[in-house]
Amino acid sequence: QTGLVTLDPGFVNTAACTSGITYIDGAAGILRYRGYPIEELAAKSNFIEVSYLLIYGELPTQQQYDAFAERIRRHTLLHEDLKQFFDGFPRDAHPMPVLSSAVSALSTFYQDSLNPFDKDQVELSTVRLLAKLPTIAAYAYKKSVGQPFLYPDNSLGLVENFLRMTFGFPAEPYEVDPTMARALDLLFILHADHEQNCSTSTVRMVGSSEANLFASISAGINALFGPLHGGANSAVLEMLEGIQRNGGDVDSFVTRVKNKEPGVKLMGFGHRVYKNYDPRAAIIKKTADEVLGKLGANDPLLDIALKLEEKALADDYFIERKLYPNVDFYTGLIYKAMGFPTKFFTVLFALGRLPGWIAHWREMLEDPARKISRPRQVYTGSTERAYKPINQR
Ligand code: SDX
Repeated sequence: QTGLVTLDPGFVNTAACTSGITYIDGAAGILRYRGYPIEELAAKSNFIEVSYLLIYGELPTQQQYDAFAERIRRHTLLHEDLKQFFDGFPRDAHPMPVLSSAVSALSTFYQDSLNPFDKDQVELSTVRLLAKLPTIAAYAYKKSVGQPFLYPDNSLGLVENFLRMTFGFPAEPYEVDPTMARALDLLFILHADHEQNCSTSTVRMVGSSEANLFASISAGINALFGPLHGGANSAVLEMLEGIQRNGGDVDSFVTRVKNKEPGVKLMGFGHRVYKNYDPRAAIIKKTADEVLGKLGANDPLLDIALKLEEKALADDYFIERKLYPNVDFYTGLIYKAMGFPTKFFTVLFALGRLPGWIAHWREMLEDPARKISRPRQVYTGSTERAYKPINQR
């Protein structure tokens, strides 16, 4: 049953497109993937199943699930020449440009899956990206720490394989911590899609030119890199560490935010759509407590984050502006406890968001009416004027 929601004309005018993938009610703090509440999917599903749901529109049968997971498993390896690609980057490169460059380069290695109107090629590029982005991310990490790359081990699931390629060593066996794997799977579910956010709109916009999936996703990765978007999860940790260096003085930091000191924002707070508590943040906050406890990471930054949230939620400045914690406020603490360096947090956001980006790209190409129409503008520049030679200016 199609969910018909009554839209006020003002909303319809600002809508970039129609889509049947994700529904958000910002005032009520509701998020549903293909009609399923995020709370239910977080509690009962897994990232592979949610990826299938977002891309194909329905929860898979056991047979469909097994076939999808098997197809992904068979594509986790990168072309050997692509491995040399990482030699070209400095070790201290930020992993997001490495990720977007490597994804764009995939189109040069896999030229048999570039046609956006050939169903088999779209399926192949879909599965290749879902399978290879974790491998690319793990290799970007290994390059940054000067350690050897590990080939994927296809006896493992997608998340376990990623953790092993990231933190494992060729010299010794690596046991994936089930708490870590379950927590990361959950975080990927919570990041999997979010309607027309900046990076998803970028993927749709680039795809509307009939650019291939790899090129469109590479553009989305670059949009996500921005500190106001996916880069916020790293910025939250840097903010908390700054408060910690200042003796944990939350009050003076909040004062600086309210005084609008240049470059001082409460990162991980506020949202273009949610003017209520981001439902994902509520789930992540609960998980942060559990995961940090189980991983034995008694992180003082969590206490600072809890104090900051408590203070902001009781302060009129934030209440009047409807500023609540968003998906990025607590995620960084969990990623840090897992052992990821801060600059990799946005890479993890990209790994989670990939199925959503792919679903939107496919939806837009399947139904041209859903293409983002070429946006027009209100012109505010000079009226017509005649050219003057340089010696008369
Ligand atoms: C994501 O779109 C999506 O769905 C994105 C995302 C997804 O899943 O794809 O949810 C992921 O990007 C989450 C957002 C992560 N970014 C941050 O946490 C960065 C900090 N947040 C902000 O920069 C800001 O809140 C935005 C950009 C996220 C949203 O901005 P809004 O809601 O459009 O608000 P605004 O910029 O118009 O500001 C309204 C007022 C202003 O004050 P006044 O000029 O009215 O006095 O609120 C203030 C702003 O200064 N404000 C903040 C603030 N966010 C807004 N003040 C302090 N700290 C903040 N974080």
